Amino acid sequence: MLEISELRKRFAGGSEAPGGKVALDGISFAVRPGEMFGFVGANGAGKTTTMRIVMGVLQADSGSVSWQGRPLGSDDRRRFGYMPEERGLYQKMRVAEQIEYFGRLHGLSAAAAKRATDDLLERLGLTERRGDAVQALSLGNQQRVQLAVALVHDPEVLVLDEPFSGLDPIAVDALAMALQERSRGGVPVIFSSHQLELVERLCDSVGIVSGGRMVATGTVSDLRAAESDTLRVVVRDPAPGWADGLPGTVTVNGDRHVLHIADGDDQEILRRAMKAGHVEHFGVQQPTLTEIFKEAVA
Ligand SMILES: Nc1ncnc2c1ncn2[C@@H]1O[C@H](COP(=O)(O)OP(=O)(O)OP(=O)(O)O)[C@@H](O)[C@H]1O
Ligand SMILES: [Mg+2]
Repeated sequence: MLEISELRKRFAGGSEAPGGKVALDGISFAVRPGEMFGFVGANGAGKTTTMRIVMGVLQADSGSVSWQGRPLGSDDRRRFGYMPEERGLYQKMRVAEQIEYFGRLHGLSAAAAKRATDDLLERLGLTERRGDAVQALSLGNQQRVQLAVALVHDPEVLVLDEPFSGLDPIAVDALAMALQERSRGGVPVIFSSHQLELVERLCDSVGIVSGGRMVATGTVSDLRAAESDTLRVVVRDPAPGWADGLPGTVTVNGDRHVLHIADGDDQEILRRAMKAGHVEHFGVQQPTLTEIFKEAVA
């Protein structure tokens, strides 16, 4: 298990924050083998800083990171796969050469590095670009190479900073599948993302960070259970003012009125809706991760 415990980090302040800027204010969470952990939070919340500390790129002021019950060291980190926020590829090196090179750097034999590279090129749809210099690739294709570099040495742990950003839907699916495979094979996977539908779809658990603190962690269904469900009612062509006085919001879409309401007597609301017009939909809706997120960081 990868355990992040009470990380604190303050950056020296500029003129705006002479006392320094607190980036992390006691971040703790754990990622178990085989778990896919989605790390979400607003811009500047502290995701990248946390990942950099895990990967030893930055020192925390205090707190600790442990792997399999021991403090995480540089030998362990060599067996981790990391995709940094600042992408770091050799622009002039050819795609396949580059992935193999990083494989060798992480201790693979030449044959193993070549095998893993060919496999990743295929999976990430890069086979035809294998001989191109990285600088000749589009942004999304460079991103795919960066991912291949993070995955080539069959890492024990994956730490990926916004791995899905800039990928087209086909590449998103290919990456999602590759990560799920690794995670089912027992690898803890942490990735940050602003694409919350994706996080909701892929992750076993989610951590929501805000202002350098973890404000919510748990499975998506745990997080959902902590929020109240809303009732969604769609009425076609209702009498004007039909929902007046109800503590919900109505959005109008053509002749359809959609009411979202968190409290109230559902039977009474149904009667009222039926009296007002043709009820097309009446059902309880669980909050989406986006709604949970907005609530948690508000
Ligand atoms: N090298 C640095 N010097 C000064 N402040 C920094 C430095 N790196 C990060 N910060 C500050 O630390 C806070 C956390 O930044 P971080 O990059 O971890 O956020 P993030 O959650 O990754 O955001 P994003 O979603 O935009 O990538 C921000 O307020 C940022 O300005
Ligand atoms: Mg970041």
